[in-house]
Formats: sequence, C-alpha cells, structure tokens
Amino acid sequence: MSQAKLTLDVNEKPPVLKWIILALQHVFAMFGATILVPILVNSAVGETVLTIPVALVTSGIGTLIYILCTKGKSPVYLGSSFAFITPIAVGAVKAGVGGALTGIMIVGIIYVIVAIIISIIGKEWLSKILPPIVIGPMIMIIGLGLAPTAISEIGISSDILNLDYKSIIVAVFTFIVTAVVMLNGKGFLKVIPFLIGMISGYILSVILGLVDFTPVLEAAFFSIPDFILPFVSYIPNLDAAMAIAPIALVTIAEHIGDHTALSTIIGKNLIKDPGLNRTLLGDGIATFVAGLLGGPANTTYGENTSVVGMTKIASVWVIGLAAIFAILLGFLGKFTALVSTIPNAVLGGVSLILYGFIAVNGLKVLIENRVDFSKSRNVIIASSMLVLGLGGAAINISTVAISGMSLAAIVGVLLNLFLPKDKEETKEEKFENIDVENLDRKIENEVKQEGENVKEEVEEKIEKEDIVILDHPLVEHKLSILRDKNTGTKEFRELVSELGMFLCYEAMRDATLDDVEIETPLQKISSKRLNEDKYAFLPILRAGTGMLDGLIKVIPNAKIGHIGMYRNEETLEPVRYFFKVPSDIKSREVLILDPMLATGGSGCDAIDQLKKEGVTKIKFLCLIAAPEGVKKMQDEHPDVKIYCAALDEKLNEKGYILPGLGDAGDRIFGTK
Ligand code: PRP
Ligand code: URA
Repeated sequence: MSQAKLTLDVNEKPPVLKWIILALQHVFAMFGATILVPILVNSAVGETVLTIPVALVTSGIGTLIYILCTKGKSPVYLGSSFAFITPIAVGAVKAGVGGALTGIMIVGIIYVIVAIIISIIGKEWLSKILPPIVIGPMIMIIGLGLAPTAISEIGISSDILNLDYKSIIVAVFTFIVTAVVMLNGKGFLKVIPFLIGMISGYILSVILGLVDFTPVLEAAFFSIPDFILPFVSYIPNLDAAMAIAPIALVTIAEHIGDHTALSTIIGKNLIKDPGLNRTLLGDGIATFVAGLLGGPANTTYGENTSVVGMTKIASVWVIGLAAIFAILLGFLGKFTALVSTIPNAVLGGVSLILYGFIAVNGLKVLIENRVDFSKSRNVIIASSMLVLGLGGAAINISTVAISGMSLAAIVGVLLNLFLPKDKEETKEEKFENIDVENLDRKIENEVKQEGENVKEEVEEKIEKEDIVILDHPLVEHKLSILRDKNTGTKEFRELVSELGMFLCYEAMRDATLDDVEIETPLQKISSKRLNEDKYAFLPILRAGTGMLDGLIKVIPNAKIGHIGMYRNEETLEPVRYFFKVPSDIKSREVLILDPMLATGGSGCDAIDQLKKEGVTKIKFLCLIAAPEGVKKMQDEHPDVKIYCAALDEKLNEKGYILPGLGDAGDRIFGTK
C-alpha cells in the first residue's frame, strides 16, 4: 500500500528536545477535554464523583496500556470520554460513586468481549448492529443531553431569579474567544480552541474577583491523587451498569471512526494492522483500569489525531511521552488545585459550543452516510431514540436504573434489527468504516490527493519559471522511447545522452557571450562566442555520467567534476562515496547532471557540497523530476534553477518516480 508522507513514522523516536516539545503539544490538545469530564460530572451530580488528578493519571495509564496492546503500531491518545458524562452522573445519583465506577469497568469489559468476538468471527456483524441511523442520533443525544448543564453553569436558567452579571460576562467572553479561535485559529491553535477559551475566561474571572485561590494555597506541591478502589472504598455493584454500559455501543462506533480517520492520515490501515480487535482491547482494558482506579471511561481523542495530521508526526514514542506527562501532572497538587478553581461560568462558556459541537457531529454522521429520512423506518428509529434520550426517560427495575441515554441506545439497536427493511435500505445502511477494503481504497485516494497537492504546488512554481520543462514534440517522442521497458541498453544510453544535450541548450539560454572578430570566407565580422572556460559539469555517479556525453558535445571545454552517491534503499537518504571537482570550481557556473530527481536527497546533497566549496552559480539538469523532489530542492535551494524533460506524477513507496522510467543507472549500464 502507498504511504502518506510522514515527518516521523509510527515507530520513529525524535531527538530528546523535539520529543518533549511534541509530547507537550499532545498534552495541551487532550488537557481541556480530559479535565472537563470530572468537572462536569461533579457539577451535574452536585458532589464529587470523579477528580481531575485521577482523570489525568488514568488517561495517561490508559494510553500506555493501549500502546502495549496495539504493539506500538497506532499513535492514538486516550482521554476522558464526553459520552459518559450524563450516564456516569445518572449512575452516581442512583447507585453512588461505587455503582458508577462499576458501570465504567463493565464498559471496559464490553470492549474486551467485542474485541474477542471480532478475533473469532470478524467484524462484519458490528456494521449490522451499529449503522449510521443508530450512531447519528446517539451522538446527538450525548451532546444535547448535556445542554441543561451548560445553561445552569452560565447562570441563565429560568429558575435563577437574580442573574449574576459577572458570571454571564465571563461565560460570554469565554464563548467568544473559543469561537474566534475555532474560526480564525491557525495551525495548532485550531486544535485547542476550548483550552484557549478556558484560559482566557479564567484570566477574566481572576480580574473580576470570581476565583478563590484558597484551595491552591492549601494544596501540597505533590500529592497522590484520590484513587477510589473497589473493596477498599466501595463494594462493586451492578445497580448503575444499565445506565452506563449500553453507551459502549456508541463509543465503539466512535472508536472505529477515529481509527479510520487516523488510518487515512498516516496511510496505514489500522483496522487491519494492528487490527480492530487489538485497538478495542487496548481501549477496553484502559477503560476498565480507569474505572478500577476511580477515573472516567477513556476514549480515542480526535484532538490528538488532529495534532498527528497537522504535524505529520505519527510517532508512538511522542504519544507515550505525552501519556507519562499526563500521569505526572496528576501528581502535581498545586496545579490540579488551580485547575479546580475554574469558575462554572467559564465552563458554561465553552460548553455552549462544545455540546452543540458533539450534537452537530451526530448530524454529520447522518448526512455523510446519506441516511434517507423519506423512509419511515429511519424516521421511527431516530425519533424514538431522540425522545427517549432527551425526554428524561428512566426505568428503575428494583435497584437497577436504565438512563434515558442507555434506553435510547438499546431501543435504536433493537428497532434497527427488527424493523423490516427493503432491499435498497439494506445496501445503504452499511457502515463503511469497518470495511477494510473500502478503507484501503480511501487511504490510496488520500495519498493520491497528497501527491496531486504537491504537484499543484510545484505547478504554481512552474508558472513563476523556477523550473524549466522542455516543451517540444521531439523531446516527448524521445522520452516515450526512453520510458518504454522494452528499450534496450544501447538505445537507452544514446537517448539519455541526446536529451542531456537538449537540456544543455535550454540551460544555456541565458549565457552571456563575448564579442569576437572573425572572418567568414567572404568578409570580416564582429561575432559572439561562449567562453567555455566559465563552465563545469558535475554528473552524479552513476547515472549522471550517462548525460555527460551529450553536454560535452555542446561545450567540449567545460571542466568535469564527479560526485559519487547512491540512495540507501531503506531510508532513501543519499550516501556519498566520492567527491572530486576542478580546483577552480568556485569561479565556474556548475551544471549538475542526474537523469532522476526523485526525493531530491541526492541533488540537494550535491548542491550542499558545491556551496561548501564556494560555488555560487548552480543549475540542476535532469530528465525526469518528481514533484516531491522539485519541492525539496526549491525549498532548500531556491537559487538553483531546475531543467527537466518531464515533470512526472509522484513517487511510489520505494521512492521511484511514477510513471518514470525505472532505475536509470541500471538501464544505462545494463546492470539488471
Ligand atoms: C538514482 C538517481 C539519482 C537518485 C535520485 O541513483 O540516479 O542519483 O537515485 O534519487 P533521490 O532524488 O531520491 O536522491 P541511485 O541511488 O539509484 O544510484 P545509481 O545512479 O548508482 O544507480
Ligand atoms: N532513481 C531512479 O533511478 N529512478 C527513480 O525512479 C527514482 C530514483
């Protein structure tokens, strides 16, 4: 399979300082959402159910567990899941903190069971029970179900008679900052709008005197988080299991969606390798351990996937270090006490967007999967789920409580399984994310698109004449023979030399000529001559020597240097083995010759060497260039003009130019 262009691949480790900075970027990305979960659960219940330090520690430990389970093949960060805020709150009210934590552990166990079933019978059954018509409304319920919490945090619900204007100002300010960052933020800022909103709102709260710093003053610098352990702090009970566990159905779909998105970003099909069974196992054990220690359920974090997409750094080492940082943060008593002083109004301001944001994602699932609401079946499923999930439905059977949200999930799954479908509907409702071949195709398309983007970028430069492409029917004709795999060594060699000559003509278009007096057989005239002593040719061994003949025919007095280089087949980095240039090279204009400009590594290294020798005028002549190599050379050496016979499509995964002509060196010298 083709691979997306990554700056750092999954198993590569960056140098220490860069490693730390990249890991901190992930910590920033996960932080806002991860700490919001305990804060919002506690605010909904009216007492402490979850704590920030434990949430941070369990998110870090969970991520490390996930990395182990996936054999270090998937750069995913696990943070606290929003989907469980309401179910945990309902569970805690009905069955106490212990009941809620048991429910979270059950969620982890469900993930593990699903992972085992997938290992045995595959994953197609999941797409049958979790089609978009069930997932979409469920995500909407998760977001909208939280809406009343945001309203009471801002302080504008109907039962509040005396509005606290300071709180409202803070909430509105936080909302505006978050919205502005979402709209106009560039790069990494765009990934952390909620964190920026919260920090800004917090600063305004401090200015308005809404923050009480007593907890920070009283806190120790380092403190062990308040882990809540079964059989130590409570006896596990299943009373809240049905309020919480059914939501696992939805978060499993979220898990698959996030892994699909990440697969297309990093160009590796994670659903196939390490496999959905392993990723679910990692997420499941992580969630079980989170519940075991008193933390919220974990989930794959889209924020961190965005960071991977933006930086093109897919290293699990970076994710692993971010996880360790999260664990350490959980032990910084003063820091977590400071975070706990964030006023409700700040949370309300971000929640105003955040919860709607979640709900809108549910709508997106319905729209992107083209769920047809002219079909009564779909209307019935979505309507009943929305009413049950948002209407405050709750069933109490003995001590066991089923929350409206869980009820909606169960009813959605059952209605979808049992309501009759017509043939068209069966086709339409397939959840394509689980389909491995479909994902492979998606990844291929993504990589192709990336190649096209590079080509587009380079094409813009062509207009600016940073690169010259020979545009002549005869050149096209000769190139076509050259590309043909049936062309033999003799003809190939002759054509490389001939095209080298044409390139030389083009590269010398701006040459300045000296005035000379000559005599024709008929009369004396003043004429123009090239001072051939001003030039040097530098073929890159081996293949570059194939072009040399053609150039020497045109400028026979040019001096010749040699640079020996081959590409390491694994890393594609150039390995230099020889460098010998004329002693007066500094004063000459140098034409570097190499039939192929692929990644640009060899060409750039040759230019680096020449510049070290003091050469200031360099041109690069090649037969075929890949957009990737042109871009690299233009980025690193914008002063070097590139001359080529053709700009091809892209590189393949082995760094060969497509459509290209194969290995130029081997074809010139007949070595293969
Ligand atoms: C080829 C080619 C270039 C280089 C281009 O040489 O002739 O020198 O690869 O690739 P790059 O732009 O990705 O660096 P190769 O390493 O095959 O050595 P050879 O000329 O001895 O065959
Ligand atoms: N080197 C070659 O000879 N051919 C390519 O396509 C790329 C590098």
